[in-house]
Amino acid sequence: MGSPSMELRRQHLIDPAICIRCNTCEETCPRDAITHDDRNYVVRFDVCNGCGNCVPPCPTGAIDSWILVKRPWSVEEQLTWDDLPPSEAGEPAPAEQPQPDEVAAIIETATAATGGRVPPPFSAAHPYLNIYTRERPAVARVAGNHRITDPETESDIHHIVLDFGQQAFPVLEGQSIGVIPPGTDAKGRPHTIRLYSVASPRDGERPNHNNVSLTIKRVVTRDADGSLRPGVASNHLCDARKGDEVLVTGPFGDSFLMPNHPDANIIMICTGTGSAPFRAFTERRRRRAPDAPGKLLLFFGARSPGELPYFGPLMKLPPSLIDVNFAFSRVAGQPKTYVQDKIRERAADVGALLQSRDTFVYICGLKGMEQGCEEALADVCRQHGLNWSDLRSGMRREGRYHVETY
Ligand code: A2P
Repeated sequence: MGSPSMELRRQHLIDPAICIRCNTCEETCPRDAITHDDRNYVVRFDVCNGCGNCVPPCPTGAIDSWILVKRPWSVEEQLTWDDLPPSEAGEPAPAEQPQPDEVAAIIETATAATGGRVPPPFSAAHPYLNIYTRERPAVARVAGNHRITDPETESDIHHIVLDFGQQAFPVLEGQSIGVIPPGTDAKGRPHTIRLYSVASPRDGERPNHNNVSLTIKRVVTRDADGSLRPGVASNHLCDARKGDEVLVTGPFGDSFLMPNHPDANIIMICTGTGSAPFRAFTERRRRRAPDAPGKLLLFFGARSPGELPYFGPLMKLPPSLIDVNFAFSRVAGQPKTYVQDKIRERAADVGALLQSRDTFVYICGLKGMEQGCEEALADVCRQHGLNWSDLRSGMRREGRYHVETY
């Protein structure tokens, strides 16, 4: 007789709570294993061979969901879901290819413990999800669009305010929205939806207004032949004028949320436009609980002060509200500094905070920073007699460690 685990099968699913319904997976799948209706994108168990081609292009990671099941979920069942069901095993679904790096292994172990992903902080408010879709988007109007980086520099980053008028658009700090760029791609297909973190708190960019702000970097890539290709969505937004229409989907995200309780210490680590959710967190604290006992500790990396979004406003925040640590990598005459260097410099304070169950860590920004931050946090832990690997697993399980990199 086989062991009970032999009866379990590994099923590829799409997490409906995270998916932004951008259609990228359906376009990518070489076997046509992915389908959708108005509500969800789903994977046909009998057609999917687990090739994984759809995983890297997915902008949210919703596609990278695998659970162990005794009976595979049908397409019809998946189409009714708001959340993934739990795995029917106490362990994560084994990957087809073993993941080489330790980070991935730890993420998998921790997410298995929570039925698929890191939960939100226990005190986070309940998020609304997927109210607006590609088929039924919210129509927002641009209420403001300002460049917030020095015009002399390469980094063209805009602070853009979108107003939803009479349409309800409830959003929490840490959530994202999707933007549908107008027009079609070179093959005549609608452009894929791009995801942006909201930079304003839940009660609006202007308090009690039905609007949100975004932090958008104008993207221009260079093709192999040397020609420049403007990023479709970022240029659509950065060029938008007051009153222009923007089609919006979402809101998205039910994990990277702000803890609501005032005792929460929040360590925020970001580069560039990864600062957007932390502007939202900070503004929420400033408006609602400026004297909260919980600390806000920010590590923010940019090339120079002129290329750091919100540099001016951040400099004006009182130290009693937030402890700001900038890391500049390209300032003439100064050593190149990354956020991980600043974390090490502040090891005493970071280490003290990490020992509290009320401490929440968030990392948002360039993909490359994740590894460096992990190493810095591991160093800090060693200095304090803590084991980072164990601590991180526990923090993930408790919704206290969140990473969003791109
Ligand atoms: P660098 O000057 O080496 O590019 P960007 O302006 O490209 O959005 O980057 C924001 C900041 O993040 C820059 O200071 C950049 O430094 C820095 N950065 C780049 N790679 C990493 C990394 N692996 N870890 C931490 N910071 C990084």
